[in-house]
Amino acid sequence: MSLISSKEELFKAMKEKYAVAAFNIHNLETLKAVMQAASEEKSPIILQTTPGTLKHAGVKYIVAIAENAASEYGIPTILHLDHCDNIETIFKCIDLGYTSVMVDGSKLSFEQNVDMVKKVVDYAHKKGVQVEAEIGKVGGTEDDVMVSEYEASLTDPDDAVEFVKRTGIDSLAIAIGTAHGMYKGKPKIDFERLRVIRGLVDIPLVLHGASDVPDEMIRKAVSYGINKINIATDLKNAFGKALKEFFKDNPDEYDPRKYFMPAIDAAKQVAKSKIKLAGCNNKV
Ligand code: 13P
Repeated sequence: MSLISSKEELFKAMKEKYAVAAFNIHNLETLKAVMQAASEEKSPIILQTTPGTLKHAGVKYIVAIAENAASEYGIPTILHLDHCDNIETIFKCIDLGYTSVMVDGSKLSFEQNVDMVKKVVDYAHKKGVQVEAEIGKVGGTEDDVMVSEYEASLTDPDDAVEFVKRTGIDSLAIAIGTAHGMYKGKPKIDFERLRVIRGLVDIPLVLHGASDVPDEMIRKAVSYGINKINIATDLKNAFGKALKEFFKDNPDEYDPRKYFMPAIDAAKQVAKSKIKLAGCNNKV
């Protein structure tokens, strides 16, 4: 199986009221962790990389390992560019094999955001690639992007309707109170806002910042109409913690094939539990 676009999987999720789990990967090890998890849970999967990961690993390397994983595991696999505000990088990823992209115009005015997203939609759709975009601003820190609590702003339902209509995007990321990274207290999710947006917008809805959110809140968000949940920090934490523990017990080990094993397994266990939480297990 080759990499597929996100359209079919996300619309199926919308119709059947579950969410597809999207995991940020950074290298071969994190890719293997989430592919093994999805394969064991019989789940479609969205592999996503930020522009920071592209700098770290290189676009062609990521596309090559993702394409290989899609054919080796035989499950519906989407390769998505997460949070990109640079149109050249977006076009390059589309040209080199990404099947889905997120345009991040959150620093722009509404009109500028519409213009940029529309340009990407025109380019991407000609190549069968799907486009996610955000209206409102999710707070927190992701790679080099930091949005303070003060700057973060929840999605206005009427703006969401106009944005979807004018841009022709395939999925909409909404800000309803989650944030990238770890929370200081418990997140305050505006479920009522989600319910209203779901009633007005007829494309899949995306929840960013799904790490460190209590399970019951994720379940509720999915039952209120979220169709994609983005998880980065929880996987990074599990992977890093397992590595640190390994070296505490084995300070002289120097073989990456050994020290990466427990880290892959720890990230895989987290990915499996997120897949079940999203409800995309047994959907293949
Ligand atoms: P977390 O790091 O909070 O899981 O957020 C991930 C995300 O939203 C990626 O776009």
